[in-house]
Order: sequence, then C-alpha cells, then structure tokens
Amino acid sequence: MRTTLKIVLPLIVSVAAVSLLFAAYQVRTEKRNLRNELSRRAEIQGESLQESVEPLLERGPEKNLQRLVERFGQREHLKGAAVYDASGTTLAITTGLPGVFRSRPTAATRAAQADAGVGEFLSGDQVVTGNEIERVPIHIYALPLHRDGSVVGTVALLHDTSYIDEQVSRTLRDSLVNALVQTLLITGLALILVRWTFTGPLTRTAKWLRTLRTGQANAPAAISNREILDEINHEVTHLARDLNTARAIAEEEARLRDSNASLWTAERLRVSLRNKLQDKPLFVVSNREPYMHVFNEKDQSINVIIPASGVVTALEPVLLACNGTWVANGSGNADREVVDANDRLRVPPDHPSYTLRRVWLSDEEDKGYYEGFSNEGLWPLCHIAHTRPIFRPEDWLQYQKINRRFANAVLQEMEGTESPILLAQDYHFALLPRMVKEARPDARVAIFWHIPWPNAEVFGICPWQRELVDGLLGADLIGFHIQTHCNNFLETVDRALEAITEWDRFAVSRQGHITRVRPYPISVAFPENSHAINETRNSGEERAALCAELGVEASLFGVGVDRVDYTKGILERFRAIERFLELNPVYQQRFTFVQIGAPSRTDIERYRIFLEEVSAEVVRINARFQTARWKPIVFLKKHHSHEEISRYYRAASFCMVTSLHDGMNLVAKEFVASRGDERGALILSTFAGAAHELTDALLVNPYDVSQMAERIHQALEMPEGEQEVRMERMRRNVREHNVYRWAAHLLSDLTEIRIETPERVEVP
Ligand code: G6P
Repeated sequence: MRTTLKIVLPLIVSVAAVSLLFAAYQVRTEKRNLRNELSRRAEIQGESLQESVEPLLERGPEKNLQRLVERFGQREHLKGAAVYDASGTTLAITTGLPGVFRSRPTAATRAAQADAGVGEFLSGDQVVTGNEIERVPIHIYALPLHRDGSVVGTVALLHDTSYIDEQVSRTLRDSLVNALVQTLLITGLALILVRWTFTGPLTRTAKWLRTLRTGQANAPAAISNREILDEINHEVTHLARDLNTARAIAEEEARLRDSNASLWTAERLRVSLRNKLQDKPLFVVSNREPYMHVFNEKDQSINVIIPASGVVTALEPVLLACNGTWVANGSGNADREVVDANDRLRVPPDHPSYTLRRVWLSDEEDKGYYEGFSNEGLWPLCHIAHTRPIFRPEDWLQYQKINRRFANAVLQEMEGTESPILLAQDYHFALLPRMVKEARPDARVAIFWHIPWPNAEVFGICPWQRELVDGLLGADLIGFHIQTHCNNFLETVDRALEAITEWDRFAVSRQGHITRVRPYPISVAFPENSHAINETRNSGEERAALCAELGVEASLFGVGVDRVDYTKGILERFRAIERFLELNPVYQQRFTFVQIGAPSRTDIERYRIFLEEVSAEVVRINARFQTARWKPIVFLKKHHSHEEISRYYRAASFCMVTSLHDGMNLVAKEFVASRGDERGALILSTFAGAAHELTDALLVNPYDVSQMAERIHQALEMPEGEQEVRMERMRRNVREHNVYRWAAHLLSDLTEIRIETPERVEVP
C-alpha cells in the first residue's frame, strides 16, 4: 500500500495542481472578457448619451435632460446615468442612484480634464458612503460634453457589475468541481494501472517465490509472458530453478553422506576440482564446440544449437561444474557475431558459467584438417567398420598447421595461470599435447581419445603414425574408454618409435618424459530426479502423443539415436527390423521403429552416400510392409535437441545401439539414464565400449542380422519384472559411473602427476 501511495500521491498532487491552475486561468479570462465586453458596451452607450445630451444642453430645459437620464437607467445592467456641468454640479441624475454620484465622480473629472472617455470599475465598498447601505459594484464610464468645441460638462454611465462577479464565481465553482472530478478519475485509473501492471504481478511473484521457497519446485510461474515484468519473470524463473537445483544437490549430498555412498555429483566434482586445481581454471580443447550460433534463414536472427556430439555431451557438465575455458572450432555461420575482441564469449547463453574461446578455420583448412585427415583418415583407421582410410599429404599438412593454431590459442588462454591443467579432446589433436608441453613444461596435459584405438598393425597403416604417437606422448596422461584401447596403444608405441613401455604400470617413458595411459570409461550426467523431471506423461501416453505427431498407428515403439555415420550399424539395424517383421508378422501394424538420425559430416562423400543408403533402405523396407496408417520405420533425418530425444527414449519399448565399432557410445547410457520408470530394454552392440559396463543389455553382434531380430523379439516380449531388474542394474551402473566420476578420476590422476621441469619456455 505504501508503494502504491508513493507512486500515486505525486500523481494526485500534480493533477490537482494542474487542474487548479487551469481553473484560475479560466476564471481570470472569464472576468477579463466580461469586463472588456462591458467596457465596450459602456463606450457605445456613453457615446449615444453624449450625442443626446449635447443638444439638450444648448436648448434646455433641464426636465428633458432628467427624462433622458431616467430612460437610460432602464437599459440592461445599466444602473443609471448622470450629467454634470463644467464645475461638477449635477444637472440630472437617474433616480435611485447611490448618493455618492450626486457629486461628480473622479472618472468624470478625469474625462473632463482629458477631454476623452474614461472608464473605471468601482468595488461595492468604494460606492458606499456615509449612511448608505447599498454595496453594489459599479462600472462608471464618463465622457466630456462639448459646446462650440469646449468642454462644458460630463456624462457618466453607471453599470451594475455584480452580474460579472456572480458569473465569475459560477465559473470558479464549475472549474473546481471539474478539477476534483479529473483528479479523482486520473487517480482511480492510476491506481488500477499500478495494481494491474506492478503490484498485482509483484504480489503474485512474491507468492510464487514463497511457494518455491517452501519446496514446491514445479509451481507454475506467477505471471504470464508478455507482461511488463517479463524480464523479471525470466530471471526469477532462472533463480528459482537454480534454487531448486541447489536444494536438490544439497539434499542429494546429504542423502549420500547419510548412506555412506560415494556417488560423484556435479557439486562434489566442483568442490573436489576446486581443491585439486587450487582455484585455477580448467582448460579444455576440442574440435567441436558446445554451442554453435547459426543464422535463421528466414529472418536472419541468430539461433543457438547444441551439436550432436559425444564429446559435448560428456564435457559440458564438467565445465559447468568448474569454471574454465573451452577452446574449440567456431563452426557456426553466426559464431563471429557473438564473440568479443578476443574471440571469447560466456556460455551457456542462458546461464553463463564458463568461457568459450573460438578458433577460426578457413574452408580449405577445415577440408584438410577436419574432413580429410581427421575424418577420412583417422576416423576409419580407428573404427573397424571396413571403410578404407584415406591419407593425403596435403591433409596431413593442414592437420599439423591447425594443431599448431589450437595449441597457440590454448597457450594464449593459459597465460597468467601457473601450472595450468589442460584436458585435450580426441583424435583431432594428436599433435597438440607435445606442442603445448614444449612451450609450457609446467602445464599438466591430458588427452582423452574418444574413439577406439585399433591394434598396432591397423594403426601402422597411417603413414604418419610415428608423428601422431610422438605428439600424444607429449601429454602427461592419455585416457581411453577401455583397457583394450590402452593395450593397443602401448603396442603401437612399441612398434612405432623408440620408447620404453612400462606394461606393469601402464606408462611410456620417452626422452625422459613419462606418459601414463589409463582407461576412463566416459559417461553421462545421470539426472538424479529423472523420475520427477519432465515426466508429465508416462511411457504409454508419451508413445500415443508421438504416434499422433508422426502420423503412425503403433502400440509399440523401438528407438535408435545416432549421427548418420557408417560406424553406427544403422543399415544392419534396419535389416534386423525387416527380418524381425518377416519372422513375427503379428507385430506388423503394431510395432514401429523410430530412427533419429542427425546428418553428420555431409561434406564428406562417404557420409553423403551413406545418408542416401540409409534413406533408401528405409523406403525399401517400408514399401514391403507399410499400410495406410502404419509403417515399420520412421526415419527422422534431422538434428534433435536432448529434450526431444528424451521423449522418444521414454516412449520406447527398447533402444537399439548397434555400432560396428564405437569408443563408448553415450546413447546407450543416455537411454538408461532417462528410464526413471525402470522399464524398457537396451539392445547393445558388443563392439561398443558401453557393452563392457552395461552387461544387462541384450548384447548383439551387429553383423548378425538374425541374432538382432531375435533380440528385438526378446525385448518386445520381455516380462516387466525382467525389464525392471535389468534396467535397475544398468541404471545403478550409469548412476555410479557417471560423467562426474569420469572427470574426477581423470583430472585427479592428472593433478597428482609430479611435474619434473616446471621451467617456462616462451610461447612461439
Ligand atoms: C565422435 C567424436 C567426437 C565428435 C563427434 C561428432 O563422438 O569422438 O569428437 O565431436 O563424434 O562428430 P563431429 O565430426 O560432428 O564433431
């Protein structure tokens, strides 16, 4: 109420002041106009009296003069008239005029002296004299009388001006009433507006905040969009979310402490890293950036995309947990629009928590380093998927050049940080660890290889295997997903160059520098409250909603989520679905498989051809079985957000991950993490790193189509009890081996490494 008064009171005072000023002005104008009008009338009447009196003065008798003044006295508002001779003696005067006019009034004297008309307003008090009690305000207008050119007397016309005062008081009263009404109206309106736009929404927001504070995390926002307090609403929503997250974290921590469990959470990682890093920032470098800015083709506005990438899925929670800098390739077409002069920006856009430093590549550089050497060379080299690697010398040159550019960007970001910690990512940067380490021997450098490492014979295909292995050995720590990849790497080192491989402690000693090699199975951030969050619909309801959106009628769903990549076994998966439907016709028109496929690396011919092959295979299989309202495979050929994908995960009876070869495969873990209902089955390739941990999945050989068809049948027929047991065990595994644990183990091992030569070398 006090706030409302504070806003409204000045308004009342100003409106009232303006209205009163206006009323005063109106009254003054009215009075002036009425007086002017009277003066003009008096002049006209005076002249007419003058004209009538002058002849009578010559001719007499005085009786006629008296009659004339009596007649004038009968005109409207005219109180009367008087005629005076040159000495001021009254010659004639209207009967009933106040006695004061029997002697010549001042105005008449002045008129005689000036030989011109003189008007004067007299107040009631000025008219009263002696014992007379009449107090009538009078206007007096006097004119000289002439004979033979000289002034021989004066006439005076006397008007009763009390009607002017009456009229003015009426106007004053009306104006005051007007002012009052206006003030009341405007005040009322202001009160309504203030309540409607400010105090109402504020009160509702306060109430909403109270609800949130008392633990009802999902209470709907208090004020709708588009209101004046939108931005506050937006910020408050974030604040409330943060509050709830913080509370959930605190509760989870307390629960864990209570149960003596040693689960890794974002909060625990943050605290642990803060201690380990001693408040230094963490540096991460990867090719793929976590946020891409792209122009919307329709209106040229800028949209943010989270790319489909295992690296991004895994690292984002780590960076969110500990402030740091992520150096990555600025690959969005609007990326340059949003960075500062140092090519940096804070992300995530909604909740800035760490720095993203973008590095720019020309098309030619991208073609050689990314498409060529990384994805036509190393990718097929490391994945046993029977696509021949292509190694071109010009691509190799670009690969070296770009590794140097990223290394320089990392070194620039590290300036001013003592003994920095760097976590380099993946096969795009095999040379970078040595480049960084040579310039900053005080840095602790780890590289995590997100894809498989093949056996030494296969890796030996690469003409530059020595240089790659040597570059990697610049790191203090090399991480792979599984032990087999570590073994393969050590064997490759043995074959490729001069170094001492210490198999007993999994380390390589080269030129006095030691590199540890360890498995760190990467994972996802397991949502602790996945049961409550986003699950407004149960699995069946979600499936029905999705069926309606996709325009198919099916009572059972299977789902696959991949980048459209030849290593993912998508064609084999589709053939297994075809086989399953052949063998189990009762599932026709009941079961649909939804394949979410984000087109990937489409500038590379092998990928373009593969995308066409996948699309053609969907058409072929659908043509065999589909009806007007049902089809066996729905291929959603576009990038989907995490939220969109998680709806499919929850609706599906099973998820199919059939990689021909895969470092880990986080889709398998994401699916498990999203099944808070402990239902659904996972069909998983034995050639994916995830198969080492998720042993309760239905494991398959993706080259064995019949076995996969059987597993699909088994997944669809699996009793609920069995689903629950398997899912519960897989969830426990993913929950305990989450991405925070991955980061904690890797970074903890890295920070514990003793650096022998902490001397700094200048940045090249
Ligand atoms: C794999 C690689 C990542 C890569 C991702 C997406 O997960 O290990 O390094 O980011 O695929 O591929 P892209 O080429 O689109 O970054």
